[in-house]
Amino acid sequence: MKVAVVFGGSSEERDVSIASGLQVIDALRLAGHEVVAVDTAQGALSSDDERRLQQFQVLDLPPNSSALAEIRSSSPVSVFGSIELKEVDVVFIALHGGSGEDGSLQALLEVSGIAFTGSGHTGSTLAMDKDISKRIMQAAGVPTPDWQMCSPADTSVDNELGYPLIVKPNAQGSTIGLSLVNEAGGLPDAISKAGQFGDEVMLEKFIAGRELTVGILEDKALAVGEIIVDSEVFDYRSKYQRGAAREVFPAEISTEQTAMIHALGLRVHKALKLKAFSRVDFRMDESGALWVLEANTVPGLTAMSLLPQSAQAAGIEFPTLCDQICRLALNRNNTEK
Ligand SMILES: Nc1ncnc2c1ncn2[C@@H]1O[C@H](COP(=O)(O)OP(=O)(O)O)[C@@H](O)[C@H]1O
Ligand SMILES: [Mg+2]
Repeated sequence: MKVAVVFGGSSEERDVSIASGLQVIDALRLAGHEVVAVDTAQGALSSDDERRLQQFQVLDLPPNSSALAEIRSSSPVSVFGSIELKEVDVVFIALHGGSGEDGSLQALLEVSGIAFTGSGHTGSTLAMDKDISKRIMQAAGVPTPDWQMCSPADTSVDNELGYPLIVKPNAQGSTIGLSLVNEAGGLPDAISKAGQFGDEVMLEKFIAGRELTVGILEDKALAVGEIIVDSEVFDYRSKYQRGAAREVFPAEISTEQTAMIHALGLRVHKALKLKAFSRVDFRMDESGALWVLEANTVPGLTAMSLLPQSAQAAGIEFPTLCDQICRLALNRNNTEK
């Protein structure tokens, strides 16, 4: 089939998305598809552009806000202006964060009748909003750490949760803008920092313990993975620098714990109305209790990213995974029309 892979864009996760997009493009070509590469901040890429990008590496830090502002102002190419999307069979969304993951692009594609990968606009919007996701998880009986919300200006908020505390933007990814706060003195700065990435800030009880994740594909849970890092949180650098984290698939946990993570992951996927695939992030506390942090509708999609590793450990290689994601998009479009 003919697939447009949309990636890059101008969210904080632009670099991560370029890494995902490039590998998805290769994988789809390997699986026999005709691929058009579209950076939504630049338009369709020529083969020279693509070749230049082959050396691309994610840096230690996300692009800074002025670089992103420049991309936004200097290249206002809309994804619709850049290519005749009606000519492709499927749009493969490899955009992380921002309007590519929060349901906006999904809504545009839905009203245009164009098949696209992953969740629809409703699920995307629900999953991107951590506060709403957690309310839905609670209603579905899924354990999620206690939290409260505040505005970025509310640096003297009455903290009802105690310390240690995680402070994070409500709708960001890649651990951007997130802080671990150990005492009251650190709270105002952490709130200001998270507030740079949106107008809602979440305070959440810190769950000391192990970091686990599970991929979901077509309503089935894949292998559970454990992420082992030196730091207390799985930060941007550990996520994207080779060797900075040890990722173990399948995780060394009991059969009962694996079954529980599968069940909770699927329950979150359904409760948030997610489609085709997702990845659900967990912490396991020192007593062995599980806590869901969030669900990701467009998780990292390089061959070494967590969802692809979760699939590989369940016997699904990366090109097959990308191919299957496209087929699920086509099937859905055919049944929903
Ligand atoms: N309540 C928490 N307790 C312990 N660690 C947390 C908590 N919230 C976030 N973290 C750490 O920060 C990382 C990123 O948080 P997450 O909520 O998954 O947001 P993101 O969308 O940035 O991935 C997690 O993988 C985990 O390591
Ligand atoms: Mg996460």
